[in-house]
Parts: sequence; C-alpha cells; structure tokens
Amino acid sequence: MANAEKTSIRIGLLGCGNVGAALASLLVDPSAHETLVRRAGVELELVAIGVNDPNKVRSQESWFPIHLLTDNVDAIVDRDDIDLVVELMGGLEPAGTLIAKALASGKAVVSANKALLAQRGKDLEELAQAQRRDLAYEAAVAGAIPVIRTLRESLAGEAIYRVMGIVNGTTNFILSKMTAEGLAYDEVIAEAQRLGYAERDPSADVEGYDAAAKAAILAGLAFDTSIDLEAVHCEGITKLRSVDLAYAAKMGYCVKLLAIAERIGDGISVRVHPAMVPLHHPLASVDGAMNAVFIEGAASGPIMLYGQGAGGLPTASAVLGDVIDVARNLVASTYQQPPRRHASLAMKATTDLVSEFYLSIEVLDEPGVLAKVADVFGTHGVSIRSMEQTGLGDEARLVFVTHLALEHAVAATIADLKNLREVEAVGGIIRVVGNDQEAQ
Ligand code: HSE
Repeated sequence: MANAEKTSIRIGLLGCGNVGAALASLLVDPSAHETLVRRAGVELELVAIGVNDPNKVRSQESWFPIHLLTDNVDAIVDRDDIDLVVELMGGLEPAGTLIAKALASGKAVVSANKALLAQRGKDLEELAQAQRRDLAYEAAVAGAIPVIRTLRESLAGEAIYRVMGIVNGTTNFILSKMTAEGLAYDEVIAEAQRLGYAERDPSADVEGYDAAAKAAILAGLAFDTSIDLEAVHCEGITKLRSVDLAYAAKMGYCVKLLAIAERIGDGISVRVHPAMVPLHHPLASVDGAMNAVFIEGAASGPIMLYGQGAGGLPTASAVLGDVIDVARNLVASTYQQPPRRHASLAMKATTDLVSEFYLSIEVLDEPGVLAKVADVFGTHGVSIRSMEQTGLGDEARLVFVTHLALEHAVAATIADLKNLREVEAVGGIIRVVGNDQEAQ
C-alpha cells in the first residue's frame, strides 16, 4: 500500500569525499533538483552529512550545504527523522556498523562500498530483508556503469555463464600507457600518481584487490551464490613487463587486468589476473581509465556495458539512481528483495582450470636448446600453438603461446624450465582469454 503521507524522503549522507561531495551537489543543485523530485515522486531532502572534519572545504559552490556537515556520524544513523542513509565513507569500519545500525532502525541504505559488500554483503542483505528495507549498491562496481541493476533485473531470467570485466580504471590506465608508449610499470605508476590516477599507496588497485572485491560482487549476482572473497584468486599488474606487452601487440593482443567470473561444470571460478585479450574482442577497445563489463548468457549472447568506473560525478550518478529508486520504494511502502543466493556453487581452484598461456623465456642461443625446451612442454602435456624466437646476442628470447592447458601442468612446465641449464629466465607468464567464447 502506498505511503500517501510521505511527502519528503530525508537523507543522511555518511562521507563527503569526491563521491559524497558530488552527490551532495547533484542533490541540492537548484537547476537539477526539481527534475529529481519529479522523477522520485517525492521531495528529496539532504538533512545531514557526516564527516571527520566539518571545516574542510568540499565545494566552492554557494549552494553547497556546508551547514549540514557534522562529525557526529553516529547521530545520523540514530535519528528517527531520517529515512535513507547513503554510505560513501568506504572501508570496513565504521561503515559496516553504521549501515547495520541504520538498517536495524528501519532506514533504507544506499552504499558504494565494494570492500564491505564483498565481505559482509550477505549479512547486510539478510538484515535488510528482515527489516523489509532496501540495500542498494549500484555504485559499488564500475562507477557509473549500471551493471548491478543489469544483472539483478534485466538478466534475471538469463543463464549467465561468464562475466569478464575491466573494473579498475587505475590499472587500465597504466596498462594502456605501458602499451602505447613502451614504458615500464615503474615509470607509468609514478606518472599516474602525479596525475592523480593512482593513489599514493596504489596497492589496492595494482595488486588487484579492488577488482577482486568487484569480481566477488558480480559473481554472487550472476550465479545466485555467496562468494568467499578470500577464495577469489588475485594477481595484479606489478610484474608485467613492457616487452611482453609489445609481443602481445605484435601477435594481435592487448593485455588487460580482468575480473572473471565463470561457470565451470558444477562450480564456478572467480579470479582477477592480467590477461592477453585478442584485439578483435570488445574488451580490447577499452582504453585509459575506462571500465567495461562483458557478460555472456545462454539466451542473451554477449552484452557489453562500457563507461566511467571511477571519479566523483560518474560514481555519484550511480548513487543518485539508487537514491531515487529507493525513495520511490519508500513512498510505495515497498522494497526490492535482496538477491537470492540459493545456489551453493563450489569455487574451483585456479590450478584446475584450463587456459591458454603466453610464456616468454630467455635461453642460451645454442644448438639443441629449442628441442630441450619443447620437450619440457611435451612432458607435461602442454601443447604449443605458436613460437617465435628473437636473438639477444649470446642469448635468445623464445615466446610461446600454448593451446588450452591445465594450469597445474603449465606451472610444472615452468618449474622444470627454470631448472634447465640453458634457461636464463622465465620472464613473462600471461594467460590468454577470449579466443574461445564457448561456455565450458
Ligand atoms: N580505484 C578504482 C579504480 C575506483 O581505479 O577504478 C574505485 O573502485
């Protein structure tokens, strides 16, 4: 039954960094406010903004609601005149406790907190369900790209078998620049930090942890299951060499950090790692700091969503969409039921997966070396698809691409190669994806 008495949805915002300040601006900007209110069907009233330091300048705009800033974040979730809490603080705590308190006191919640939702999403969803309140988190994955809603609603009837995403703009910016300019990782990360594309401590991005949290959220929605974030295999980009990116380009590939969630037999694999993607694949066209999610379903076929995955306004756009959706539900005295996580799908160990591999090996340039190296591949049942040799003085670089091979067989091949007297180094090891578009 509609809540006819509700003429206004009162919003408490937790956090006012880039995204929070952009959201506050979008909510109160007089030129946009009336349209928002018409779309929501109810007045949207920002009544408090919880921050660490209320004196910090967040916007020069005269209409920015400085008077709403407070450092008493607990009071916001305790206030019974607030209907909706928007959490944009990030981090596990105090955000987790504040969201739980907000839900427990009957408030709806919108959050963009991927780390929290990846780790404690199921518990928070259960709490939201018990309270019959919304917990919406479109902005938690890939900023402005509406991928959560797409998986939850548009593809609710689809048998999805794979989701592959470029869901971290920092690493995509770094890899695009390494490829385009032939620069080393260390040079590009320094520039990315200077330009503000990478954090001073970039480890969450470059080690793949940020993408892993997003992969866990996407996999949970795609496969109706609950994902243990600890079990998501995660490799970052710090060991990638520009020479391997150049070989990849020469062979018709680009290298991307991919978040992959796929059905494999009766289980799933959820992982983050650099991958060589053929240049004809739609994900190969995603350059710079842009994000994209490529979804493959049995009936739908391939779908790609592309857009800005980070930044204040793009992320605030997704948050605002949730705010309007939740406001409509509050007026209608309803809520969106949390995703059903009824499938208990086992997570496959990465070592048991099959992939094609790119391997770059530095060897002594002597008679019989290639035969010895090829023999190691054969011993472990790893079939070579292509090989290229480049002379490096007394040494040579051998670049192999394998056919599909078991990961543990490739690992055993690499271990044995390292023991050969003639092998100086196994330099680059990169999985190749996207050549096979079939469900496994
Ligand atoms: N740091 C992320 C990125 C954005 O570079 O894409 C927030 O998840």
